[in-house]
Amino acid sequence: MGVSSRKRNGAGPWWQDAVLYQVYPRSFQDSNGDGIGDLEGIIERADYFSWLGVDAVWFSPFFTSPMIDFGYDVSNYLDIDPIFGTIADFDRMVAAFHARNIRVILDYVPNHTSDQHPWFVESRSSRENPRRDWYFWRDPAPDGGPPNNWQSLAGGSSWEFDARTRQFYCHTFLKEQCDLNWRNPSVRDAMHDVLRFWLERGVDGFRIDAVGCLAKDPDLRDDPPNPDFHPGDPPFARNLMVNSANGKDIMDFVGDIRSVVDQYPRDPVLIGEVYLKTGEIAPYYGPELGGLQLPTNFNLLWTPWKARPILDVIAAYEAVLPKGAWPDWVMGNHDQPRIASRLGKEQARIAMVMLLTLRGTPILYYGDELGLENIEIPPGRLRDPFGLNMPGAGQGRDPERCPMPWDETQKAGFTSGDPWLPIGSNEPGSSVEAQRKDEGSMLSMTRQLLALRREQPVLSRGSWSPLPIEGETLAYFRQLGKTRFAVLLNLESKLKRFSIAEISTGHVIFSTHKRDRHQAIRQDIELAANEGLIIAL
Ligand code: GLC
Ligand code: CA
Repeated sequence: MGVSSRKRNGAGPWWQDAVLYQVYPRSFQDSNGDGIGDLEGIIERADYFSWLGVDAVWFSPFFTSPMIDFGYDVSNYLDIDPIFGTIADFDRMVAAFHARNIRVILDYVPNHTSDQHPWFVESRSSRENPRRDWYFWRDPAPDGGPPNNWQSLAGGSSWEFDARTRQFYCHTFLKEQCDLNWRNPSVRDAMHDVLRFWLERGVDGFRIDAVGCLAKDPDLRDDPPNPDFHPGDPPFARNLMVNSANGKDIMDFVGDIRSVVDQYPRDPVLIGEVYLKTGEIAPYYGPELGGLQLPTNFNLLWTPWKARPILDVIAAYEAVLPKGAWPDWVMGNHDQPRIASRLGKEQARIAMVMLLTLRGTPILYYGDELGLENIEIPPGRLRDPFGLNMPGAGQGRDPERCPMPWDETQKAGFTSGDPWLPIGSNEPGSSVEAQRKDEGSMLSMTRQLLALRREQPVLSRGSWSPLPIEGETLAYFRQLGKTRFAVLLNLESKLKRFSIAEISTGHVIFSTHKRDRHQAIRQDIELAANEGLIIAL
């Protein structure tokens, strides 16, 4: 039943034209009333993805795990956690997706295992254990403290003392997430086998968690202090992660992973979680592009929502891309506050138009198509250990992980039981069901844009070039052959005039607002407050 590998528009590999959608499995659909989403629930919702019009779904981890970091602490890479289902459910899920021509991308967590993983249990058992060197074990510093100054991204030191063997082990995240030593060839072999296991079961790619952390300084030298640290920043921001991550040999590890997946048909894709500025992303594509096909680009999330800085970021990224490298764009994920909370409902629509009309592969986060906002979580219901470990530092990720509101009932069609986190929204009209019926909703708009991307290759494959900024209107051209579109995005809630000097007429292809399709457009264009417009020239 495989997905056809026919390339759309006769162009590049599938993931260049694709729109990717991230599912956080705990919060998508519960099928058995325990309040936690599961694979059966995802299967029940399979038609939603085709109705919406996405091409591939990336799932946050559903492997066996004590769930201290809700699945990012894996204790068996080769099985499904019973909370989510079984391997048989997984196979049914892949079949259900492939039958709909939707690809399946798994989360691959290579930097660390759970402290319950048999590899770590063995490793910690004695200094002589053959798996000792699979992790980072070090003697205490002369003062008895940790071996170096590395700070955990989940709060506190990156080192945990283990009384039995009187050494520390390294954990870039929680102390229950023990860092694997990728310089040990047996670790690499074992982790490559994990990729093969899932590729044999038909998956179409991986999102690689915290990939830069695989390459630490071989001498484990201290990280230098961060001169821009401000009180109130999260504690780990005291240091620059110069030695604790992104070491020189990172691309050796990535290149090896790539060679493994390249052995499989259907062009599997590697998406890598890299939180880097545009200029630093480029090396992750790899020498001669043998690295990550899509190193994630989060830069729009860090840029002030103003025309000039946004345009500068887009242009800077376009400029640093190595030859043959393909761009990608992210506006949200399970670690970032919801975009609609940052920008407001109106500008969240503009953000969606931008995400789906820039050159490159967009990665959507579930619920952003509804305009979901961060949910206020009562203190007693907070679940994310990152937030609980670093109170007041804004590191809690529960608000963006709330269950999907499917309908207008009290539990929103997500569960019949008690949802593990409060439902994503109980505001009337915000559910999938309500928004499907409303032509002007964020959901209908997103679906319309996704359909447009399929019909109009210029939106995925066309070149990108900026138009001069006028006030807070961001504008760019997309061009493929003779087809040329102009995208105009009004970043303010004020009426705007915009003129495109070099054209005489065009017609409307899409608007966030009510406008006649095909309406003729002349040089001087009037944009409504918060309007996004696509014009064919
Ligand atoms: C990545 C994940 C995050 C997780 C961390 C540790 O940043 O996106 O959710 O907590 O890695 O695996
Ligand atoms: Ca369940």
